Amino acid sequence: MIRKIRIGILISGRGSNMNALVEACTDPAYPGRIVTVISNRPQAPGLALAQKAGIPTAVIDHTAFPGTAAFEENLHNHLIQNEVELICLAGFMRLLGAGFVRKWTDRIVNIHPSLLPDYPGLQPQARALADGRRESGCTVHIVTPEMDAGPILVQRRVPILPGDNTETLSARILEQEHLAYPEAVRVMAERLLKNKTANYKTEAALQKGLSMENHNVSVNPEELARARAMWKDFAHFTKYAIIVSVSILVLMAVFLL
Ligand code: GRF
Repeated sequence: MIRKIRIGILISGRGSNMNALVEACTDPAYPGRIVTVISNRPQAPGLALAQKAGIPTAVIDHTAFPGTAAFEENLHNHLIQNEVELICLAGFMRLLGAGFVRKWTDRIVNIHPSLLPDYPGLQPQARALADGRRESGCTVHIVTPEMDAGPILVQRRVPILPGDNTETLSARILEQEHLAYPEAVRVMAERLLKNKTANYKTEAALQKGLSMENHNVSVNPEELARARAMWKDFAHFTKYAIIVSVSILVLMAVFLL
């Protein structure tokens, strides 16, 4: 079984970008699999879509918590418990606090319907139209504490046509979002797989003092074989070292007595 990066998707609404990722993950060669879809809104239509695809879902309703910190702590724990290694924000309509983002440095990606750094924040399509721009698009980027400002992974461009309104432009951009997001998540997942410290679940579980027992840990068979070979070599070496030491002691005892 090839090792895949465990993806958690955060949504707030219809979840069409989530669905594009769900479809991409049906390819056995895709380097990620979605282990949880979380919505902060109980009524998000994307939840039903995920359930239909057989993906476990959770509602973590931000209004049920006394404040952002408590909401984000709950979210963090849910992600850790599900051994998530990469978080994808897909129409997630809340800004994540700097504390949360730092805990997941280089492990959160977001999609935004503009060619960043142009038009970060709300209603980027309407603002591009109001400025008379001839071109727009979408950007997938790594999330950093500053909103919509992290390193760019993938951008796709679309023309702004005469007679466009917010709806027509948003629809044209959305088509490209559905291509850009799986492309960018592939890049991130491959990067994490190459990175030897990618085993975030161990790191995170240790940080949180969670037990690794009963966790369904997926292990790269090559790494396992390498570890077994190293252990075998070490065991051989130790055995011979003990035999030689004992022999020397016996010989010394014989000569001295
Ligand atoms: C998308 O345009 C995305 O770029 C923005 O919100 C919209 C969400 O769409 N952040 P969906 O929920 O993925 O269909």
